[in-house]
Amino acid sequence: LRKREIGVWRYLEYLPVENLEKIVSLQEGGTPLYRCKNLGEELGLKELYVKNEGANPTGSFKDRGMTVGVTKAEELGIDVVGCASTGNTSASLAAYSARAGKKCIVLLPGGKVALGKLAQAMFYGAKVVQIRGNFDEALEMVRKLAEDGKLYLLNSINPFRLEGQKTIGFEICDQLNWKVPDRIIVPVGNAGNISAIWKGFKEFKETGIIEDLPKMTGIQAEGAKPIVDAFKRNSRSIVPVENPETIATAIRIGNPVNYPKALDAIYSSGGYAESVSDREITEAQKLLARKEGIFVEPASAASIAGLMKLLEMGIIDKDERIVCVTTGNGLKDPDAAIRASERPIEIECDMEILKSIIEKI
Ligand code: F0G
Repeated sequence: LRKREIGVWRYLEYLPVENLEKIVSLQEGGTPLYRCKNLGEELGLKELYVKNEGANPTGSFKDRGMTVGVTKAEELGIDVVGCASTGNTSASLAAYSARAGKKCIVLLPGGKVALGKLAQAMFYGAKVVQIRGNFDEALEMVRKLAEDGKLYLLNSINPFRLEGQKTIGFEICDQLNWKVPDRIIVPVGNAGNISAIWKGFKEFKETGIIEDLPKMTGIQAEGAKPIVDAFKRNSRSIVPVENPETIATAIRIGNPVNYPKALDAIYSSGGYAESVSDREITEAQKLLARKEGIFVEPASAASIAGLMKLLEMGIIDKDERIVCVTTGNGLKDPDAAIRASERPIEIECDMEILKSIIEKI
């Protein structure tokens, strides 16, 4: 293994892998941490960063978890892997299992997976099964298959997934020259990622690499916010949302399996949990693209929308050093982007008309 400058396997000493020969990698991680001066100024913030996980090989943070999870499957000699997914997990698992020569089955909530993600899962050669049901039901089904020994489950209940994803925390420290951010803002669905990032920061603190810890701040969509509801009740248990609904289909989840870990991250870091509406998500998605040139999918924009809301509520201080994690690439969901944009102008091949247009931009 050639040690990479930056990326998941740079942190090998912190990863539970015994046989380096078995590593299944697409060179994931090492994603940009952008200083966002324009958006920061607009919001009156001193130091705003975006950790853009959309720059991963399959376009989402899931690749960090899959490189470790599929490597583990390889170590264990497993032939069939599977997952339930709102889209990104299936795209990522399909890619890594293809690279590892494994059979892969993915269960998707029919009609509710963004186009790019569906195309990826299909094209990498996974067996794609759409159920007439939502993500939570798909996960329940695939868990039963795993319990029956039919496949190795690579949802985020698999602890090796979170081991890979904790490197988001490591990289943020590294990229900020060990100045720990005051706050990390993360969109929350099945609640694995916020738990993983928190684990990363804690491990760096335990090994003496950093001294401080960030406030973990989770953002859910209004139509799928069981963790926010629990937080507002000051509770450690959730009441599942029966029919979750949001434009941010990646986080359209009513019964997140990792909720205990996520709530622990939020409570013990002195963080917060808030929800945002679909309209706020779309506005934030546009603002990030137009102020910073960063195109993210709707679920990812929830972190920016949450930041804006918490600033208004006075929960976030303008002096804080803040990192918003944008979890997936904007190209994943072209329909959402087109719906939120002005239509292109269509003209004849006429220079006069074209000139009149350029005068008005
Ligand atoms: N953002 C994006 C783009 C996601 O795809 C997901 C989860 C999340 C945020 C939430 O992360 O579940 O760890 O809290 N997507 C999963 C999937 C559920 O199937 O692709 P989480």
